[in-house]
Amino acid sequence: MQYDQLAPFPDGFLWGASTSAYQTEGGWDAAGKGPSVIDARTDFPEGTSGFKDGVDHYNRFREDVALFAELGLKAYRFSISWSRVVPNGDGAVNPDGIRFYRELAEELQAHGITPIATLLHFDLPQALQTRGGWGERATIDAFVEYARVLFEQLADVIPYWLTINEQNMMIMLGEMLGSGTSGDRKSVWQQNHHMLVAQARVMALAHDIAPNVKIGPAPNIACVYPATPHPLDVIAAADFSAIRNWLYLDVAVRGVYNPTAWAFLGARGWQPQFANGDAEVLAAAAPDFIAFNYYTSHTVARPKGDGSDIRDNGDQHIVLGEEGVYRGADNQFLPRNEFNWEIDPIGFRMTFRELYDRYRLPLIVTENGLGAYDELTEDGRVHDQYRIDYLAQHIEQIQYAITDGVEVMGYCPWSAIDLVSTHQGIRKRYGFIFVDRDEFDVKQFERYRKDSFFWYKRLIIGNALPTGD
Ligand code: BG6
Repeated sequence: MQYDQLAPFPDGFLWGASTSAYQTEGGWDAAGKGPSVIDARTDFPEGTSGFKDGVDHYNRFREDVALFAELGLKAYRFSISWSRVVPNGDGAVNPDGIRFYRELAEELQAHGITPIATLLHFDLPQALQTRGGWGERATIDAFVEYARVLFEQLADVIPYWLTINEQNMMIMLGEMLGSGTSGDRKSVWQQNHHMLVAQARVMALAHDIAPNVKIGPAPNIACVYPATPHPLDVIAAADFSAIRNWLYLDVAVRGVYNPTAWAFLGARGWQPQFANGDAEVLAAAAPDFIAFNYYTSHTVARPKGDGSDIRDNGDQHIVLGEEGVYRGADNQFLPRNEFNWEIDPIGFRMTFRELYDRYRLPLIVTENGLGAYDELTEDGRVHDQYRIDYLAQHIEQIQYAITDGVEVMGYCPWSAIDLVSTHQGIRKRYGFIFVDRDEFDVKQFERYRKDSFFWYKRLIIGNALPTGD
């Protein structure tokens, strides 16, 4: 649909930006923090440094929050490191861990920035992993107790909570992300079920003990196109969407598995076992909003039914494929970024529409952005017009979605500040703020404002896409 005029962004729109703990904090063993599955990793892609130093946000968070305030952020979405707060995953709480997140949240509040905290962003405590990780129901209890500590101690300063970042990517690509959610497929889907139960219990707990807070899931959601109008391609697209998108949100919002996804699991003997009470726990939980990450749309074709349905160069944002269900296809209408991810702002609008049509809950974007090999110039600037273009095109489509009638609470692009990417090191950058460190030489971690910093600041001040120079 075209409009003569687009609706404005609502007053109080949460213009924000995002990060995660393990990609930014550093201080991986500081002040009583226990190791996470990410800290225990040694299999980093060649030429990348790992995550132990991040961008030293743990030590520089006040400087960073001052920069976020100068940028004009209304919200900051970060994640809490479970093993900083509960070093062994369960049991004793580390007061220094709680203190760090309280100080961060208070610093944000003091600058008028609303904190939005994710409970888990890929970095399960290693102590839990050695005891079986998400394969064990004890991890559900540990997650609930960890969340209880956070709600009891931080709900007064953190009004918005996200349960698990990109659970769907943890399940589809656990090995690549190092999130511990790997193993044979049957066991991975059982882990997934445990995470869904844990999420439902935590959402109910939040409403019970911290009625002032709002909480929701944060999967990666993207619309899926059929490669052609052939009905078999259309079915393949619907199948992929059910398995990738709706499985997670149908359980989170409606409390039941998506029937197509359930049939897929059944056909392969991968349906998870429900323990007594699981169905009731899932049915009882209700999120206040849906947070989602979007980088690109996906296009799939009908499967050939053999190993060629699976590509070897997939990642979170390039379809891997599933034998006999769908195979990834290129979309000839879309340009690509340097990492071969398709760029599809209109697919963003479509994704908003699908989400709102299905669930009728307020939506907030918790990741969207462009990774690139930014260059720091001699005068301390980064000319990242390509990032400004990407963000502007996507923000315009949010405005279309709002005009379409979708309720959008906010937009938190990835990322507030440069951070270490999931598998391409620090060289692949996303931030509004450049951090001067190399892959293996962390230098002084000096911060520099990119061109996109000044552009996003103008946008936030005007509550509208900037026009002209
Ligand atoms: C999302 C993750 O999948 O994509 C982030 O939640 C990640 O943690 C982001 O950084 C971008 O992916 P990458 O691989 O470029 O870091």
